Amino acid sequence: MNIGVIGSGYVGLVAAACFAEMGNNVVCVDIDQSKIDKLKKGLIPIYEPGLSVLVRDNFTKGSLKFSIDINDALSVAEVVFIAVGTPMGDDGSADLKYVLQVAQSIGENMQHQLVIVDKSTVPVGTADKVIATIQSALDIRDSDLTFNVVSNPEFLKEGAAIKDFMHPDRVVVGADDEKTMQLMRNLYAPFTLSNDRFIGMDICSAEMTKYAANAMLATKISFINEIANICESVGADVNHVRIGIGSDKRIGYQFIYPGCGYGGSCFPKDVQALINIAHNHGYNPELISSVERVNKAQKKVLFSKLVSQFGNVLKGKKIAIWGLSFKPETDDMREAPSINLIQSIVKAGGEVSAYDPKAMDEAKFYLKNIEVNYYNDKYSCLEAADALILVTEWKEFRSPDFELMKSKMSGNLFIDGRNQFKTDFITSKGFKYLQIGVRG
Ligand SMILES: NC(=O)c1ccc[n+]([C@@H]2O[C@H](COP(=O)([O-])OP(=O)(O)OC[C@H]3O[C@@H](n4cnc5c(N)ncnc54)[C@H](O)[C@@H]3O)[C@@H](O)[C@H]2O)c1
Repeated sequence: MNIGVIGSGYVGLVAAACFAEMGNNVVCVDIDQSKIDKLKKGLIPIYEPGLSVLVRDNFTKGSLKFSIDINDALSVAEVVFIAVGTPMGDDGSADLKYVLQVAQSIGENMQHQLVIVDKSTVPVGTADKVIATIQSALDIRDSDLTFNVVSNPEFLKEGAAIKDFMHPDRVVVGADDEKTMQLMRNLYAPFTLSNDRFIGMDICSAEMTKYAANAMLATKISFINEIANICESVGADVNHVRIGIGSDKRIGYQFIYPGCGYGGSCFPKDVQALINIAHNHGYNPELISSVERVNKAQKKVLFSKLVSQFGNVLKGKKIAIWGLSFKPETDDMREAPSINLIQSIVKAGGEVSAYDPKAMDEAKFYLKNIEVNYYNDKYSCLEAADALILVTEWKEFRSPDFELMKSKMSGNLFIDGRNQFKTDFITSKGFKYLQIGVRG
C-alpha cells in the first residue's frame, strides 16, 4: 500500500519505518527541515532502540522516503496518517493546532480520494473537526474529492516502540464505514498474523480508548506511590507490599512499581486532557483529578528526602544525579521528574552534576537556564558529591562498582528514586540508603 505519514517524531517515524518494513511504500513528512535533512543522511533525530537500522534499511531500499513537502505524500498515498504532536494547551486541554494545520494542508492539496488516519492522541470529537477542516478547504477549491477519516490511536511505549508496533497488544480502529474498516484491517494484518488483535469500533470510542488506557496506567502509578507514602509513614516496606499485592492475578505486578512520579510526553498531558474533556461535558472526574495531584506531589519526594538529610539550604552541597530521561531506553525529557528535582536543588543553592546514557543533549535543552555540570560517564559525575540520587533506572545503574563510587564521593548518601536495591546490601557497602516507601 502507498502510505503517507505526517509528523516524523517518536510515533510518526516508528510507524513509517514499521509500515515500510512490512512491504509498504511510505513517504514520511515533517515541517522541521533539520529533522528531514538528518533523516535523509541516515541520522536518526531521536534515540529509540532498533529504529536506526529499520529506517536506514528501508530508506536505502527506497520503501521509506522523507520530505518536508506534504504533496510528496499526498500525490501517491491512499492512506495518510496524522502523527503530529498534541501538546498540553494553557488550559490543560489537548492543543489541536498541529493536527488541524495538517488537516488544512490535506484539504488544500489532496489530489485523489484519501483515507486520513488520526494517529495523534486527540480528544473525542477531533475526527469531526478534521473532517470539517478538510471539507471546508475542498469547498474553497470547489473540489468534489471524497475522503474518510479514521481514528487509530497509538499505544507504543518509547524504549520498546518497534517491538510494540510490530507486535501490538491490540490495534484499535474507529471508522464509520465498513469499506474503510476493511482497508485498515488489511493494512494491519501483517502485524497481527499470529492472532487477530484488531479491534474495530466507532470513532468516538476509539478516541476515548486511548485516554482511558493512559488514565488507567497513570492511576496504577499514583496508587502505588500513594501506598508507598503511607508505608513510609507507618513503617511498612512498600517493596514487600508491592509483591504481596501483585501476586493477586486480578492486580498483577505490572505498573505497581513505586517511584518519583510519572513523566513523559503522554501520561501528564493525556490525564490533564481527560480531566478537561470531562469538565467540558459537565462531569467532575474525582479519581483522575486525584491521580494527577498525587503525581505532582510525588515529583517532590526525592527533594524532600534530600532536605530531610541536609536541611532546606543546600549551599556548598554537590548532588550527583544518575538518569535524566523520563524513563530508561529513551532520550525523551518531556515532563521528566529529573527536571523538577534539579530545579529544586539549584533553587536551594545546591550544585548539580548529572549523567544520562542517552538524554544529555535533550537535558541541556530542557534545563538550558539552569547551571548543571554534565559528565560523560556515571563515575566521574560522582566526583566530590555529597549525595547521589538515582532518578532513571537505566540498566547500567543496576550493578555499579560501589567501591569506585565511594572513592569518588565525599559523602555517602544514596537516594534511590526507583528502589533498585536491597537496603541491607547498599548499607553494607557503606552508604546511607533512602528509597521510596521505606522509612529511612
Ligand atoms: N511519544 C509516545 O510515546 C506516544 C505514544 C502514543 C501516542 N503518542 C501521541 O502521538 C502524537 C505524536 O507524538 P510524538 O511523541 O511522536 O510527537 P513528537 O513531538 O515527537 O513529533 C511530532 C512531529 O510532528 C511534526 N509536525 C508538527 N506539525 C507538523 C506539520 N504541520 N506537518 C508535518 N509535521 C509536523 C513536528 O515537527 C514533530 O517532528 C501525540 O499526539 C502523542 O500524544 C505519543
